[in-house]
Amino acid sequence: MRLVGTRPIQTDRLALRRWSVDDAQQMYDNWASDPEVTRFVTWPPHPNIDATRSLLTGWVHDYDRPSTFNWAVWLGDVIIGQTAVVNLETEVDLAEVGYCFGSRWWNHGYATETLKAVMAYLFDAADVNKVEARHDPANIASGKVMEKAGMVPEGLRRACIVGSTGPRDAQYHGLLRSQWRDRR
Ligand SMILES: CC(C)(COP(=O)(O)OP(=O)(O)OC[C@H]1O[C@@H](n2cnc3c(N)ncnc32)[C@H](O)[C@@H]1OP(=O)(O)O)[C@@H](O)C(=O)NCCC(=O)NCCS
Repeated sequence: MRLVGTRPIQTDRLALRRWSVDDAQQMYDNWASDPEVTRFVTWPPHPNIDATRSLLTGWVHDYDRPSTFNWAVWLGDVIIGQTAVVNLETEVDLAEVGYCFGSRWWNHGYATETLKAVMAYLFDAADVNKVEARHDPANIASGKVMEKAGMVPEGLRRACIVGSTGPRDAQYHGLLRSQWRDRR
């Protein structure tokens, strides 16, 4: 694996860029404060913009480490979501990806376009052997994103995600470098 860090990625419609603390207002307004968006993620809605600013301060600091892969997703001049490598297993060259988008932009294919681009970056630039992602089985849209991006279902791991009412199951999807190559 090559720890190349967070470089810009361009897709047909989107630009993936590094975070700046100045992005806090957009992140807070567009999804981080929205309970509908956080329903299936491991963190609660941000109570105020200071929480968002503090999170982004930490994220910007994390860019000092080349093992940080964390992008703001821009549509024109609006930040519509976020994607990052949330778990890196360097012993086996595996990267787990997560993503989150503002509900105003759901069902336009943006998450799928983002995940495809991040997978290409991780295989081509970071030279990983496997990209995986997991979702709560009740989060059907997220599972569809993984399959539309070309990932293969791998199985259900029970009671392993933090949920507001207790541990939740996780459905895993993944793609190996060999499968990635065959599909090109
Ligand atoms: C999950 C999420 C990332 C999807 O983003 P998106 O940009 O809407 O995804 P896409 O448009 O690329 O694809 C969504 C697909 O799910 C489908 N879908 C959405 N809700 C659905 C539902 N309740 N049942 C069945 N399919 C559904 C859409 O129709 C679309 O499929 P299609 O292209 O075949 O029509 C977005 O809803 C989100 O950010 N949710 C909150 C955070 C989150 O859950 N993150 C993932 C944690 S694992």
